[in-house]
Amino acid sequence: MSENLLDIRDLKVSYGRAQVVHGISLTMKAGSIVTVIGANGAGKTTLLNAIMGVVPSQGEIYFDGAPVPLTLEGRVAAGVCLVPERRELFGSMTVEDNVELGGFLRTGAERAETRAQVYGRFPRLAERRKQLAGTLSGGERQMLALARALMSRPRLLLLDEPSLGLAPLIVADILRIVSELRQTGVSILLVEQNARAALEIADEGYLVELGEVRRSGRAADLAVDPALMESYLGNSGGH
Ligand SMILES: Nc1ncnc2c1ncn2[C@@H]1O[C@H](COP(=O)(O)OP(=O)(O)OP(=O)(O)O)[C@@H](O)[C@H]1O
Ligand SMILES: [Mg+2]
Repeated sequence: MSENLLDIRDLKVSYGRAQVVHGISLTMKAGSIVTVIGANGAGKTTLLNAIMGVVPSQGEIYFDGAPVPLTLEGRVAAGVCLVPERRELFGSMTVEDNVELGGFLRTGAERAETRAQVYGRFPRLAERRKQLAGTLSGGERQMLALARALMSRPRLLLLDEPSLGLAPLIVADILRIVSELRQTGVSILLVEQNARAALEIADEGYLVELGEVRRSGRAADLAVDPALMESYLGNSGGH
C-alpha cells in the first residue's frame, strides 16, 4: 500500500454557488510536516476544514490508505485533529479543564500517560493548571490549544495559523514546539502565512493561490524559490 498518511485528490469545495477550492491534490508521508502557505482568502482554512469534515467537499481523501471516514466524528476517531485559527478555548475554564476536554476519547491509564507527556512538553501550562484559560498570554493560549489537541493522541494534526497574532519571538517558540511534535509520531499539516518560518520546519510545502496549488515541493527548495521569495518570503532572500 501507499506510504502516504494523507492523499488528497482533486478536492473541491464550494460555499453555496461560490467555489473556493478548485481541485487541490496533496500528499503527506506519515511522520512528516507539510505546510500550506498562501495569501488571505486563498482557501487554506477551507482546505483544513474539508479534511476535518466540517465543510462538505468533492474529490477523494485517503487517510492511511483508505477513504477517510465520511463524518466528522469518524475522522476524529480515526485520529484527525484540527486546531482552528480561533483557538476555541474555554476562557472561563481552567487550563487543566481545557486540556482534559481534548482527552475525552481516552480513558484510564492511557489518558494519564498522555496527560503526563503533554504537561512535560508544556511546563508553562503545568505551572498554570489552575489558571483560567482566558487569562493566558497569546503564546500560552496557542500552547494550550496544542496541548488539548495532543490529549487526543492524533495521528494527523491540522494546524491553522498557529503563529497568528503572536510576537516574532513567540512565533519561533511555537513553531519549534510544532517541529518537536514530529518526534511523537504525529504528522502535521501546517497552514501558515508566515511562509519563511513554516518552510523552515516543514518537509514539503504547497503554495495555494485562489484555491489552486501554484507550486509544491520540498520545503527547502521552496524557501529559495525566486517567485515565492518575491511574493511570500519578503525580498531579503534569507540572511
Ligand atoms: N462560510 C463561508 N461562506 C462563504 N464563503 C466563505 C466561507 N468561508 C470562507 N469563504 C470564502 O472562501 C475563500 C477562502 O477562504 P479561507 O478562509 O479558506 O481562506 P484562507 O486562505 O484561510 O485565508 P486567511 O489567510 O485569511 O485565513 C474566501 O474568499 C472566503 O471569503
Ligand atoms: Mg484561514
